[in-house]
Amino acid sequence: MELKRVGVVGCGLMGSGIVEVCARSGYDVVVREVDDDLLKNGLGRVEASMRRAVERGKLSAPDMQAARARIKGTTKLADLGDSDLVIEAVVEKMELKKDVFRELDRLCPPRTLFASNTSSLSITEMASVTRRPQHVLGMHFFNPVPVMKLVELIRGLQTSEETMATGRRFAESVGKTVVVCKDSPGFIVNLLLVPYMLDAVRALELGIATREDIDTAVHLGLAHPMGPLTLLDYVGIDTTYYIAEAMFEEFKDTRYAAPPLMKQMVLAGMHGRKTGRGFYEYKS
Ligand SMILES: NC(=O)c1ccc[n+]([C@@H]2O[C@H](COP(=O)([O-])OP(=O)(O)OC[C@H]3O[C@@H](n4cnc5c(N)ncnc54)[C@H](O)[C@@H]3O)[C@@H](O)[C@H]2O)c1
Repeated sequence: MELKRVGVVGCGLMGSGIVEVCARSGYDVVVREVDDDLLKNGLGRVEASMRRAVERGKLSAPDMQAARARIKGTTKLADLGDSDLVIEAVVEKMELKKDVFRELDRLCPPRTLFASNTSSLSITEMASVTRRPQHVLGMHFFNPVPVMKLVELIRGLQTSEETMATGRRFAESVGKTVVVCKDSPGFIVNLLLVPYMLDAVRALELGIATREDIDTAVHLGLAHPMGPLTLLDYVGIDTTYYIAEAMFEEFKDTRYAAPPLMKQMVLAGMHGRKTGRGFYEYKS
């Protein structure tokens, strides 16, 4: 199946990155946000990211113009009705994702493929609210999407081989390397990453070291590009908290239990870079 039109639900951190890579790869993209202000912010993020790519010589100015012309923003899910593929990138909450897919199933023709960018939640469960479970797969991009080369493709219990093959061709066509994973909480990367990030928060909570020293230790001692608390601020404390909660719910293993400090930060609106404050402070 040839894909031409891509719908993206959510233009947050991940949705905006997905919109950008699709448009830069020649797809027509319609992106839906919940209201006009969020849509403006999201499209502003796409614009700023493409400008940075031009400044760094990664994208030509005419290619940026062409990509921009392929992107349409909307607040109506119905405008995604003639998509060949819809990628969902709303907040990491199962009920919300199911609502989105239930509604899309009503709006889109049977041929449309549905992908979720979930970090941890079950694809099989999302597929269960549609009449096309064979056409539903996980397509997990990484942040920042234009830079990070990996996509995890997740096979739900009923995902067809054809859907997996089309998903792979699509992810490769937007410049990504694909790994395939079964529908298991956290897939490959978050299965390994989440306990590590939670342990870093526990170390801070216990007063084992300062935030700076925890980050410096990992950065220099393990040669990671950044320490775990800086990484948490990039990913989003809220998003990581929801991922941990979902994984804990599935595994019932305390390795995935979010430390109290994370919950407090979520409630206090300290979500990391996107809100200007997380483990560190950021100027907008
Ligand atoms: N942040 C990361 O590093 C990362 C990486 C890979 C995957 N993900 C996954 O991508 C998805 C989105 O995460 P994000 O980091 O872009 O979050 P974000 O907070 O930046 O964006 C969340 C999006 O959800 C939308 N939303 C919020 N409430 C809604 C509602 N009631 N109805 C419909 N839409 C609603 C928002 O408008 C926004 O577009 C999540 O499933 C997350 O697990 C995140």
